[in-house]
Amino acid sequence: MVSVAIDGPSGAGKSSLAKRLAAELGFIYVDTGAMYRSIGLYGMRKGIDLNDTQQVGACLGEIAIRLAFEDGNQHIYLNDEDVSQEIRKEDAGMAASAVASQPQVRQFLLDLQRDMAQKYDILMDGRDIGTVILPNATLKIFLTASVQARAERRYKELVEKGDKVTFEQVKTDIEQRDWQDIHRETAPLRKAPDAIEVDTSDMTLQQSFDALLSLIQTRIAQQKENM
Ligand code: DC
Repeated sequence: MVSVAIDGPSGAGKSSLAKRLAAELGFIYVDTGAMYRSIGLYGMRKGIDLNDTQQVGACLGEIAIRLAFEDGNQHIYLNDEDVSQEIRKEDAGMAASAVASQPQVRQFLLDLQRDMAQKYDILMDGRDIGTVILPNATLKIFLTASVQARAERRYKELVEKGDKVTFEQVKTDIEQRDWQDIHRETAPLRKAPDAIEVDTSDMTLQQSFDALLSLIQTRIAQQKENM
């Protein structure tokens, strides 16, 4: 099986690119952020303190997460409810970041993520895919962009969806999320030593897509030669 790990901070374009690349390559796209968002959403709905590991831990026993692939899109089910849209909101992103710092939550999702890589050719995006989840991935990409560029993209995306947010708010959220993701003790966001870094600050989506596709195709060809 081929596995491509794409890690990087919020808003670097991981999911838009991974989705398109998976369609192009005939791979399955696994959005691990959606899993953390679903757990965050569950806790938010219950009204628990998302930073309290005991309260979050008690919730995990009540949660079943399932991925389904319908019309080429990943749908995520939280206890059989399709929450694919709801988890995209900003508050679910913040809730995800809070629960994602907890080892019990990461452990809870680890098998589900590794299992996908054993069954299918995949592109998996997240924060620790290259460092923790798939240390032997066929290719590891660390996708980044400046805070300004990422905030501009995320703001545009949210406004198009009809969310009422200000640019400053989006930028502050990104900075806060970066800080939390980089500084947490368990599986912090960092580049794996063998990952290739791609900075998309000055690239269009198409340019980033072409760059990543070329990296993946080259690596797959190299792998075939060595077999
Ligand atoms: O990629 P995203 O914005 O959907 O991720 C939401 C949050 O989940 C983000 O703040 C970090 C966390 N996350 C993580 O810790 N590990 C992953 N593999 C994916 C996401």
